Amino acid sequence: MPTPPSIQRAVDDAFQAFGQLPGGANADYIPFLAQVPDKLSALAVVGIDGSQYCAGDVRYRFALESISKVCTLALALEDWGHDTVQEKIGADATGLPFNSIMALELHAGKPLSPLVNAGAIATASLVKAGSVEERWQRILAIQQQLGSGEIALSAELNESEQSTNAHNRAIAWLLHSAGYMYCDPMEACDVYTRQCSTLLDCLELATIGATLASGGLHPFSGKRVLQAENTPRILADMTMEGLYDSSGDWAYTVGLPGKSGVGGGLLAVVPGVLAIAAFSPPLDEFGNSVRGQKMIAAVADTLGYNIYRSPATALPHSR
Ligand code: DON
Repeated sequence: MPTPPSIQRAVDDAFQAFGQLPGGANADYIPFLAQVPDKLSALAVVGIDGSQYCAGDVRYRFALESISKVCTLALALEDWGHDTVQEKIGADATGLPFNSIMALELHAGKPLSPLVNAGAIATASLVKAGSVEERWQRILAIQQQLGSGEIALSAELNESEQSTNAHNRAIAWLLHSAGYMYCDPMEACDVYTRQCSTLLDCLELATIGATLASGGLHPFSGKRVLQAENTPRILADMTMEGLYDSSGDWAYTVGLPGKSGVGGGLLAVVPGVLAIAAFSPPLDEFGNSVRGQKMIAAVADTLGYNIYRSPATALPHSR
């Protein structure tokens, strides 16, 4: 484990170098996201031992968006086990954009990944619940248990998303017609839209990652949130599809399971050690934070973290 000063230095240096990088643009297909100040930028590391390191606007509360897919996947795995999730949703990359209809058409309507919109709507429908409110409360609860009790729905963001989610509704009906929808399609789409509409800060995002890094133990409370056997499945899905159609480039260049959201959040996990989270709204063409990718890549590189690297060739931990 690198020393605390070397981790803080890595965070400070990455923030300094890339925290205001030009390029990219806020998501604008959800009106709420278009008006978030694009200068905002934050970087945080949380260790599985509860240590914390941060720089920038770490207390700004931003939209969780697609990173919520990781939390709902965790809940579906807890409810059903990995074989059922693989059969009913899939565990593979689509190689296509996150809201692709073509990806469904190419695979007889099977979403393939719980981390694209279709797979995430199907995953929300798979969560065990007797009513729409129970489904929503269980999904919110897992976000809070993985991260922090402060994570909460923004009514304004939810309204902005619900009034512009026609494409996701279409996806939900396509899933229904192909046999990959496990509750009422509009209930699933409603709850999926709510799960994207919660707000959290960068430290809370890193905390979600640290819970995954530890095999399911929350880094601050020490409470078990997930069964240890489920976290490798989640991290594998993140590797395959966490940054959508640039997941391969991310694995090749950074080598850490990651997950992005169109709110500008980005999370990367070093299994058994820590998580690195970033937030900055401008996105690249794939929907991933431009500055977030650079900041996280720099921290991982400086500290020598890459899951594909042999420990024998690990970088010295403090430079
Ligand atoms: O469903 C949507 O399109 C958004 N609520 C979330 C998409 C998203 O975050 C994709 N991420 N990079």
